[in-house]
Amino acid sequence: MEMIIQPDAETASRIAARLVAKLVRAKPDAVLGFATGDTPLLLYKELARLHKAEGLDFSRVTTFNLDEYIGVEPDHPCSYTRFMMENLFNHINVRPEKIHILNGMTKNIPEECARYEKAICDAGGIDLQVVGIGADGHIGFNEPSSSLSSRTRLKTLTDETRRDNARFFANASEVPHDAITMGVGTIMESRRIVFLAFGRDKANIVAKAVEGPITAMVPASALQLHPDVKVFVDEVASCKLERKSYYQWVYDNKPEWEQF
Ligand code: GLP
Repeated sequence: MEMIIQPDAETASRIAARLVAKLVRAKPDAVLGFATGDTPLLLYKELARLHKAEGLDFSRVTTFNLDEYIGVEPDHPCSYTRFMMENLFNHINVRPEKIHILNGMTKNIPEECARYEKAICDAGGIDLQVVGIGADGHIGFNEPSSSLSSRTRLKTLTDETRRDNARFFANASEVPHDAITMGVGTIMESRRIVFLAFGRDKANIVAKAVEGPITAMVPASALQLHPDVKVFVDEVASCKLERKSYYQWVYDNKPEWEQF
């Protein structure tokens, strides 16, 4: 895992956006995986700015989102479809038919999950997947005890996750109990992973995910087994990392050919 510790979320997100932009310029038909939540918002803002200011072209890009709530209509204010449209897709030139988000209203969940896995495969796999982390260590909606080789499927949310996500809903009881999510195994097949975590509240779980044992109880820890993960954290989210100064030295002394 490559640790990129920056003073604040803005700086870290700008560097992460540069990485995504570099890939899209080198491979205009790249397949990008996106995440929701507050964490990737600055990254999406920067990608929208790069599109507007520098003509970063998403017209041939294909996208897949990590997850969606069950029972939430795509145009519901809290759906992840709506989130992505409002925070990214309406601001770049991605083609609507190239956007893939799981259908939380499906009548046949296993079929919807199999369809999604096949769509990822048919697109040639995900070149770069953006992930955040939940306070309990989830990625996508892979809650603790998720199989580390799981595929896209139904997951029941923990009380902690429902509480954390209640801020997006009118009231806490409206937060769905279930979601469909790419599995940990699905995420692990992405060629590159950009892992973002900002804020003091993420410090403990970032340390567990990056430096702790690989365990299904912290699904994000599976990323330690991935050959190309870049972890972008701000100063406060990095404060529990035991080897923080080492990571910082490595990043500051990166050889030129490895810089982005
Ligand atoms: C949700 C999403 C995750 C996200 C997490 C953290 O549970 N399914 O993909 O990483 O929230 O959200 P935030 O970035 O708002 O802390």
